[in-house]
Amino acid sequence: EGITVTVCGGGNAAHIAAGMFASRGATVNLFFSFKDEAERFKAACDKAGGVTVTRKDKTYFGQPKVISHDPAECIPMTDIVLLIVPAFAHEPILQQIKPHLKDGAAVGAIPGPGAFDLVALNALGDVFTQKNITLFAGTSLPWACRFDEYGAKATLLGVKTKVDITTRPNNDAKRNAWLADALTRLHDDTDFHCRGHFLMTTLWPTNAVIHPGVSYGIWHDWDGNPLDEAPLFYQNCNKFTGGVLKGMSDEIAATVEVLKSNGADLSHWQPIDVYMLDVYGDVISDHSSVDRIFATNDAFRGLKAPMITRDDGKLDPNFRTRYLTEDLPHGLAVLRGIAEICGVETPTMDKVLLWAQPLIEKEYLVDGKIKGKDVAQSGCPQRFGITTPQQLIKGDIVSLKN
Ligand code: NAI
Repeated sequence: EGITVTVCGGGNAAHIAAGMFASRGATVNLFFSFKDEAERFKAACDKAGGVTVTRKDKTYFGQPKVISHDPAECIPMTDIVLLIVPAFAHEPILQQIKPHLKDGAAVGAIPGPGAFDLVALNALGDVFTQKNITLFAGTSLPWACRFDEYGAKATLLGVKTKVDITTRPNNDAKRNAWLADALTRLHDDTDFHCRGHFLMTTLWPTNAVIHPGVSYGIWHDWDGNPLDEAPLFYQNCNKFTGGVLKGMSDEIAATVEVLKSNGADLSHWQPIDVYMLDVYGDVISDHSSVDRIFATNDAFRGLKAPMITRDDGKLDPNFRTRYLTEDLPHGLAVLRGIAEICGVETPTMDKVLLWAQPLIEKEYLVDGKIKGKDVAQSGCPQRFGITTPQQLIKGDIVSLKN
């Protein structure tokens, strides 16, 4: 069908995309922000002749056409630019590719949390309208995956059967249908649906809630003494942690109601328990409460909290991981900022955010408002001068706070 996709990022997920998308007939390019990473990937991939993805009962093999850190070599001929990187990489990547985008290109992030549309509008500037760009974001990565041999081999551990995407502009039904169909054809066994306001992706109760919430549950009353063993991250989920997760999900639900009453289509938004059962239902043995849903999810079995090993072999919690460095500025702080604009009380989000932000030496929530110095490097609507639900729904940048 002659579709060209450029995947930005060369981590675990990019390996899957390279192998799977090419095996399904697309031309796949890989764009790297870092030269050494591009060279390493290209050398390994050329040697292996392509990327092989192994899954329980299937394999996918594909050869990327261009592997480069130079956007001029891969972006100008690209129909769909797909960012599969941590959210803090979105802005720098968009800055790099912006001069090279083809007219009518779709540019999206999967997962695309943290007001990807606002971050992208700000990064692309006039290019967004001049080049008729369609922005899109997916609620979650469809895969659990890891690479085994860099640039050559990867394993696909799990696949989600459906992923929702949202788009900007959102009013072109034909374009939306084309994009959802194109993504569905690129992916084996995952259906993409395009529906609802862009805020639906931003408000999706996933990593932004789960990673800071579970971290808080485990460590909020830590006595500072090192441990002999890393605690299980999800399987230990108890009533307290379940209450934190449910509390934040309820606060988003209240925010969703305000935005709906102002006219946003958020009819497909799901609370955390409904969402988890929807995507993982089969492998969750106890559906009775949020804490049991997390504690008995087989897909999470054995995953441990990130730790740092001391010289004496004992363990301290490691708070400088993406669970906070990504999921606060492009997650929880954004959710808190949106709730604030909607006039929704957020005692649970506040507790978690005020506990977590000093651990990564950041300030988002200060004196009850999203106005800390680090809002300028986040997806918080406050960064973009947005102060009313109507402005949130319109989604334009009002003024920039730096
Ligand atoms: P990874 O850590 O393997 O790869 C990340 C890629 O992003 C690397 O190529 C790195 O160079 C690039 N990158 C990092 N910082 C950058 C920056 N500032 N500028 C430009 N590029 C930068 O990540 P992975 O596993 O491929 O995951 C990608 C995304 O998918 C993440 O958001 C992750 O949370 C999400 N995800 C991954 C899952 C998995 O099973 N691997 C499961 C669910 C979500």
